[in-house]
Amino acid sequence: MPVPGDLDRAATLLCEGQLVAFGTETVYGLGADATNGRAVAEIYRVKGRPSFNPLIVHVPDVASALKLVNIPPELEPLTQLWPGPLTLVAPMRTNTTISDLVTAGLPTLAVRVPENEAARRLLTTCGRPIAAPSANTSGRISPSSAHHVEEDLGGNIAAILDTGPCAVGLESTIVGIGNGEPILLRPGGVPLDCLQDVLSKKIQDRKGEAITAPGQLQSHYAPNAALTKDVDAPRGNDVHIGFGNDGASISLSPTGDLVEAAANLFTVLRQADAIAKSTGARISVAPVPMTGLGVAINDRLTRAAAPRE
Ligand code: TXA
Ligand code: MG
Repeated sequence: MPVPGDLDRAATLLCEGQLVAFGTETVYGLGADATNGRAVAEIYRVKGRPSFNPLIVHVPDVASALKLVNIPPELEPLTQLWPGPLTLVAPMRTNTTISDLVTAGLPTLAVRVPENEAARRLLTTCGRPIAAPSANTSGRISPSSAHHVEEDLGGNIAAILDTGPCAVGLESTIVGIGNGEPILLRPGGVPLDCLQDVLSKKIQDRKGEAITAPGQLQSHYAPNAALTKDVDAPRGNDVHIGFGNDGASISLSPTGDLVEAAANLFTVLRQADAIAKSTGARISVAPVPMTGLGVAINDRLTRAAAPRE
């Protein structure tokens, strides 16, 4: 299954919306075209992830990164560390075609320019931003060789581009902005000292909870309107989001396809929220089965339905 050097084929598969694992200097990533919602949904399905954490988007150079995000001045010096094992979380530009599933509906995007030569060549050849979490099933150890990926995901993905063992072997350091200051969201391949040297200042550490589970934080997109899930028959003027063949005008997937539903989830929530805002209505969502990607979809809907502070 690993295809050493078969970079053009790997790039073609990615452009076709297929999943391709590839090596970076940190760990092997499970790559998908970040502009293709269905391809991104496949990442979650194949990893068996029980919730939609926002994903890191990989680009071949700093110029490509700047087309996707507005790097705030507080983080700007850190772009000197690219290419390298550093991810920056910054406000996403409004003109990108990044799937909502990549950001989990957040207004910010996590971007990284990997250092690994083959990875950068793949990204250049592909010509599209590539979303890639570590290429392992949820809960397993991150892979640092093509062989690790094959053992774990081999039968489930289109290809593995063998770029050799990972030089760093640990995920990238993630830095974002909190209270107008650079903030460490995840320790990783670039040590804290190095970040502080480049910025000539101390960086706050978002202790414990945020580092182990940044994707679980309240920062996720939640609609403004009250939302109720598992509603078969909408009441009154509820803005109803359907699933399957229920004739709803807004639907996660009219055919009841969970991959399509995942790809549409955040876009459809925004649509419903916009309508609810103009009419003061509530949002109701049809039941989504708890199988496959349905687990992650229900997790997100449960959070969206949770009482707000
Ligand atoms: O080294 C790495 O970064 C590897 C290789 C493949 O590049 N990738 C990786 O991706 O670790 P992933 O998707 O497993 O890590 C994403 C992390 C999650 O913890 C997520 O919560 C955080 O980045 N993240 C992504 N977007 C974010 C955002 N907009 N705000 C805050 N955290 C974000
Ligand atoms: Mg991981």
